[in-house]
Order: sequence, then C-alpha cells, then structure tokens
Amino acid sequence: MQFDLVKIKKEAKKLIEKAGDAKALEDVRIKYLGRASGEVTKMMKMLPEVVLGERRKYGPLLNSLKRELEESLEKKLTVLKTLSAGSRVALDITMPGKKVSLGHLHPLTIVEKEIRNIFKAMNFSVVEGPEVESEYYNFDALNIPKNHPAREMWDTFWIRHQTSDIRHQKLLLRTHTSPVQIRYMEQHKPPFQIIVPGRVFRYEATDASHEINFYQVEGLMVGKDITLANFKFVIEEFFKRLFKKDIEVRLRPSYFPFVEPGLEVDVQCVRCGGKARLPDGQGCGLCKESGWLEVMGAGMVHPRVFEAAGYNPRDFRGFAFGLGLERIAMIKYNIPDIRLFYSGDLRFIKQF
Ligand code: DAH
Repeated sequence: MQFDLVKIKKEAKKLIEKAGDAKALEDVRIKYLGRASGEVTKMMKMLPEVVLGERRKYGPLLNSLKRELEESLEKKLTVLKTLSAGSRVALDITMPGKKVSLGHLHPLTIVEKEIRNIFKAMNFSVVEGPEVESEYYNFDALNIPKNHPAREMWDTFWIRHQTSDIRHQKLLLRTHTSPVQIRYMEQHKPPFQIIVPGRVFRYEATDASHEINFYQVEGLMVGKDITLANFKFVIEEFFKRLFKKDIEVRLRPSYFPFVEPGLEVDVQCVRCGGKARLPDGQGCGLCKESGWLEVMGAGMVHPRVFEAAGYNPRDFRGFAFGLGLERIAMIKYNIPDIRLFYSGDLRFIKQF
C-alpha cells in the first residue's frame, strides 16, 4: 500500500488557504478529517490492515499530518474571525493609533528644578536639611527664644520625644527651611552662597492659600562684605530669569527675628504688569489691584544668628531669604488654589 501523504498535505493546505469563510473551511476539515469519510481518517482506519512494517512507518506520519492540518485549520479560523464583520474595524489602518499616555512632572518639581538651575548658574550650592528638626535649630538658634511672641508666626507640629541633649530637647516638624542656615554655618566657613529647597509644615487651617505642608527655598550668602545691594542684584537677576522678562523688584521693611533689617520682597505683578488693571479695564485679581506680588521674606543675617552658628558677628555679613515654592508656581502658572498641588488629581497634573 502506498499513501501519498505529501500530495494530500499539499492539496489540503491549498484548500485551507483558499477558504474564504468559516463554512468553506469546515468543508475542508470534513473532506480530510471528517469522522466518517475524511481522507486522512480513512487512511488511519486502514492502518490495521497493512503489514506491520508499513504500519510502523505510516502510523506516526498520519498522526503528525492530522495534527498539522488541525493546526492550520485553527489558525485560518482565527484569521477569518478577525476579518469578519465587527472585528474588521480593528484592522482599519486609517484609524488613529492608541494614545500612549506619558507621565508628567509635578508643577512644583518643575519650578523647583528651574529655581535650582538659576541659582546654580549664579554659583550657589544646593543644600538640604532634615524635615524633623529640633526646637533649637528651628527657633532658638534663629533668635526666636522660648515664650517670645515671634514664635506665633509659626504654628508648629510638635513631636513627643525626650532626650537629655540640649540641642535636641524637643523635636518638631520644621516650620521653615531657615534652620538649615545654622546647620550649614556650623560646618562651613564663609564665603559661600547656598539655597535650601525643602518641605515645611505648619499646624494651621487650610484654605486657598494655606496648606499644612508646603515647600520653601531658603537662600543664604555670607562673606566679609556682603550688602543689601548684593541681595537686590541677586534677587532681581533671579526673578528676571524665572519669569523670563525684566521685572521690577521692591523691598519693603518687615520683621523676622533672624534678620536685621528684615524685608518683604515684592515683584511687579506678572499679570497686569504692575498696572493693577487688566487690558479690558477690570481690576487685576492676582495682585488684588495693588500692582505688586509679595514673594519672599529676606534680610541681613542677624548677629545673634552668626553667634549661634559659632561665628564672630564682627567678621561677617550676609543676606538670607525664604520663598514659598507654591506661591511662585501659582503666579507662574496661574493656579488659583494651593490645595490643587496636593489633590492628586491627574487632570491637574496633566496640564504641565
Ligand atoms: N523663614 C521665614 C518664614 O518661613 C521666611 C524667611 C524670612 C526666611 C526672612 C529668611 C529671611 O531667610 O531672611 O516665614
């Protein structure tokens, strides 16, 4: 007996290839693998009648042919299904592709990076300090003694904790980045200039412009003869680069225990250009029709602060400043509510 398996296989594959729908494909299956009279099935049924030697040869060959045809039929069926109505749309090559959704940097990250880069370009170093701070660094060393009313400027989260080391008597969540001034000066001799970006905490009610945690960037430049004029230049340059335009800066007297004199820094309103009115005649809401935006506290480092850090205050002069990162980002991107930064709302993040 001779089975021309090669020929059968070729024919069957050709028919499978040609089958245009599921019905035609089923006919091919029946023709070769049908249980009653499929060609391959018939040959398999004949096997017991052929001589042993031949049986041994054809048995496995028929089995593998059967398996191969079954696989081809299966594959073709999948193709036909994909092409049939409904799923045909999936192969419409004119359809726009699926959008890959990219991650976004948080606006605060973007602004912080920008601020770091601007100051680095002006030869400032970037320094960091701990978020859990001692009362000593956060207050005492900054000339804010216990029971002094000035402490009320910073509503504080205190941490329950006890130790005998005077410098770590009481722990708290830092209310500002200013303690890093002391930490840095304890370890370094002037001249130097640093910025300190970091998270700070306040125990207060939240609203559109207050959060219980937010970010600050502290600045400190100390040398033998640093003056307020140096401060004004650095800060004007900084805002010019940050807002990418010439922007006027105004210094007003203010009070912070760790500087003397203390200053409040305003920049010309970036929305109305200092005019307090918008082009349509309406009052500018951003600067509350004042033409100015309050952006940071600053001043000349207080002699007591130098003393606390172990310097002789007669040897050095320096300026310090502290700005709120959210405030800057809100001005730069026109964000109306500080709570949006921490909402975790992707619709917010995706805009940057
Ligand atoms: N630490 C102050 C605050 O959180 C901000 C500040 C004001 C920092 C004046 C300074 C400064 O370095 O000189 O309110």
